[in-house]
Amino acid sequence: MDRRAIGVFDSGLGGLTAAKVLEDTLPYENLIYFGDTANMPYGPRSREEIIALAHRNTEFLLSKDVKAIVVACGTVSSNALAELRESFDVPFFGVIDAAAIAALEATETGRIGVIATEASIRSGAYRRALESRNDGVRIFDTACPSFVPLVESGHSSAEDSLVRAAVEKELWELRRFEPDTLILGCTHFPLLEEAIAEFMGRDVHLISCGGEAALSLGEYLHKENMLTDSKTPGERRYFTSGDAESFSRHSAPFLGHAVKGEKADI
Ligand code: DGL
Repeated sequence: MDRRAIGVFDSGLGGLTAAKVLEDTLPYENLIYFGDTANMPYGPRSREEIIALAHRNTEFLLSKDVKAIVVACGTVSSNALAELRESFDVPFFGVIDAAAIAALEATETGRIGVIATEASIRSGAYRRALESRNDGVRIFDTACPSFVPLVESGHSSAEDSLVRAAVEKELWELRRFEPDTLILGCTHFPLLEEAIAEFMGRDVHLISCGGEAALSLGEYLHKENMLTDSKTPGERRYFTSGDAESFSRHSAPFLGHAVKGEKADI
């Protein structure tokens, strides 16, 4: 049993898709979230920059005494997870393997789409995670650079014309590939799930990479006897390197409750 908090970080709001699953499935756990809004987007950055930011984010969470960390960011998971594991003595849960396993379980036709940031696609991490488990799958992977800025500026509704136009532009080719399963390989993308489902077809399985990583952390804590023994709702704190008020405003709809964003001392 371990009463310390679970840590979660992302470049901004996207990691809330993992935090929401943690809130729902592990309600008694304490949670420390960090969104590095001041430095987002991570997707266009170099691998070296991504590693440096990931180190700094981890140090912030460790200063809050977390027992495990969900790297709720496809870009960091695909470019820096090995370096984080080498540098810090805390269990890390990335999104790549968790999403690949879920996609392979979901697919019936073996045609899997992957959408993520430029840096994630460039790394080839999703492709490797899928092909190393099943070399018979057909994969179409593509970067969607316009999605993260849209979500961070509060545009996510399927009714929003900006969202619809971006989804159509980024996913046009992918739809012609006719995947039956699509990995939403950037944690921001499930916030556009409704618009993506409408465009791709409702029968396409959509895999939330952050949600899958959160579930795998839950299984690990259970197996290692590291869940809290508390039976009162966990304390959740949401930190940002950017504007706390804006973080609160944009995050509440995705978590389903009001959030008091706190400016991180970082
Ligand atoms: N949400 C992150 C990811 O999963 C990063 C997006 C970005 O900052 O570009 O890749």
